[in-house]
Amino acid sequence: MATVYLNGEFMDADQARISPLDRGFLFADGVYEVIPAFNGVLFRLDEHLGRLARSLAELRIADPHDGPGWRRLCEGMVARNGGGHQSLYLQITRGAAPRREHAFPNPPVPPTVFLHSSPLTVPAADQVARTEGVAAITLDDLRWARCDIKSISLLPNLLLRQRAVETGAQEAILLRDGFVTEGAASNVFVVRDGRVCTPPLSHCILGGITRDLIIELCREKSLPVIEAEISEPALHDADEIWISSSTKDVVPVTTLNGRPVGDGRPGDTWKTLARHYIEFKRRLCGL
Ligand code: PDD
Repeated sequence: MATVYLNGEFMDADQARISPLDRGFLFADGVYEVIPAFNGVLFRLDEHLGRLARSLAELRIADPHDGPGWRRLCEGMVARNGGGHQSLYLQITRGAAPRREHAFPNPPVPPTVFLHSSPLTVPAADQVARTEGVAAITLDDLRWARCDIKSISLLPNLLLRQRAVETGAQEAILLRDGFVTEGAASNVFVVRDGRVCTPPLSHCILGGITRDLIIELCREKSLPVIEAEISEPALHDADEIWISSSTKDVVPVTTLNGRPVGDGRPGDTWKTLARHYIEFKRRLCGL
């Protein structure tokens, strides 16, 4: 049984109890993070904690821990769940108020802090090299105008991902006013003539931790990379499309709306980047 953390205590998952008046349950009034651990080492932890602090500040939820406190908590969870490869889930809500009222509780109530861990399957480097890529479809981005906040209010993302899954695809690539924003649960990159491009940070996308690392690695390894708008025609003309997230790293999309992307196989630029990405993880986590 997974060990979870709830409001100051570690316990078996089936012992955890949360009030039905919790504003996370009633209003999705909270934020979350998903942090991978490889070989028991939390990957890009400071970056994830930085984004968490920002999300909390945007929602004006008092941060229940400082950086070292969060680090201790996250490391404690990974250790209690046996190390190895894990996906650590952190959720903080505005807490359980005495009654259901849209405005924030006044006086404030203590935030609810919940951590959960699930096993993470990490493909070996040779398996990554042999991947055939995944299928994606394009859909209209019907989400709100603050997608930069990692909010637990994910219903539009769920509906979009479900539409993709029901067509046999793994991800929905979202378009707002004719331009790519991101995936239902990932960031998007395209490659054209060897040049890597991803949409710029804005209120319309989540600033992905994996996205930042990919940009960093491209710059370090002299792969041309820019942050610029990607129009719908440019997406369809791309030689390569990639999606990225903390639990999947960077994955090539080889079919878009049922048609092959480029020659329908993972591209050379992805192969180069994926090698550097695996090497980076190996150095940090000894994979
Ligand atoms: N989601 N955009 C959205 C909408 C996401 O939900 C995610 C990740 C990303 C990628 O962010 P990062 O590289 O920091 O994981 C972009 C997580 C994995 C989830 O909801 O499970």
